[in-house]
Amino acid sequence: MFIPSSEKLVVENWEEFKVLEKELKKFVSSIENPKIRDAVEYIVFSGGKRIRPLIALVAGRMCGGSYERLMNLAIAGELLHTASLIHDDIIDGAELRRNVIPLHKKYSPAFAIVVGDWLISKAVELTSVYGEEIVRESAIAGLKMCEGEIMDIYSNKEKFEERDYFECIEKKTAYGFAYMAELACRITSRDEIAMERLYDYGFNLGMAYQLVDDLLEYLDALNDKKAHFESMTLPQIYAKKFGEKRGIEKVLELISIFANKSLSALKQFPKCGEREKLEKIVSIMTSEMLEKRLPVPKFPE
Ligand code: IPE
Ligand code: MG
Repeated sequence: MFIPSSEKLVVENWEEFKVLEKELKKFVSSIENPKIRDAVEYIVFSGGKRIRPLIALVAGRMCGGSYERLMNLAIAGELLHTASLIHDDIIDGAELRRNVIPLHKKYSPAFAIVVGDWLISKAVELTSVYGEEIVRESAIAGLKMCEGEIMDIYSNKEKFEERDYFECIEKKTAYGFAYMAELACRITSRDEIAMERLYDYGFNLGMAYQLVDDLLEYLDALNDKKAHFESMTLPQIYAKKFGEKRGIEKVLELISIFANKSLSALKQFPKCGEREKLEKIVSIMTSEMLEKRLPVPKFPE
């Protein structure tokens, strides 16, 4: 079927996206416990961008994998991410996430904690179909996420410099993206070079995206006098070190460096629809996100 290029670039039109949404619905309705089913349905369909499972499906298909082979990994990745957001919202006392009420506010912190635990356990069960190596690698990604989150929690209480920030976001965000892309390839092919390139793709994309997220949060906070910073991030560190304007410029430069590294990692793959989609994900998570949220005049003069 011929799909015009512009249409191919809208994520909701991607076959991977449609298949994933169908499988997520099936997964949710298969949950036996009604309280857990309702909560998981609420949170899984609360408007997430599905970036991690899409990376798994698109990268895996680029390496020759089928939906059937890749789906457990994709869903596990989304569930692990969802659990981390549920717990993160409790930690931060968040009032809103994706413009909806977070689980701990809709239900209770006690219930939300256990739903998060349930999602982590379910993710382990889903990855167990791939055998020990994949379970171990996913566990390592989960351990790193926790270490990163702990650095985040202490970031405004202890000395937290540029290098601590980079270690924190590598662990909290970048490894998660890296493992999704790498493992999708690992369960599909034996091509170690492709695995390495996809790892680099995911890692650098994760770094760029976390910088975008932190920059947008910093600029939102700047526009709101009452705002208080939750955790210490690079825009704050740089603003102190180089002044606000130069600090923001430097963060934007870094975003572009990481985004370009992520795109370069794809260059060894032949040009194909999947590669185009992986490239599109980089632009969605960086330049498009900045453009959407940052009308240019907001930049300090
Ligand atoms: C939010 O991730 C946490 C960060 C890494 C900044 P996403 O922005 O991918 O979350 P959803 O799933 O689309 O809401
Ligand atoms: Mg947080």
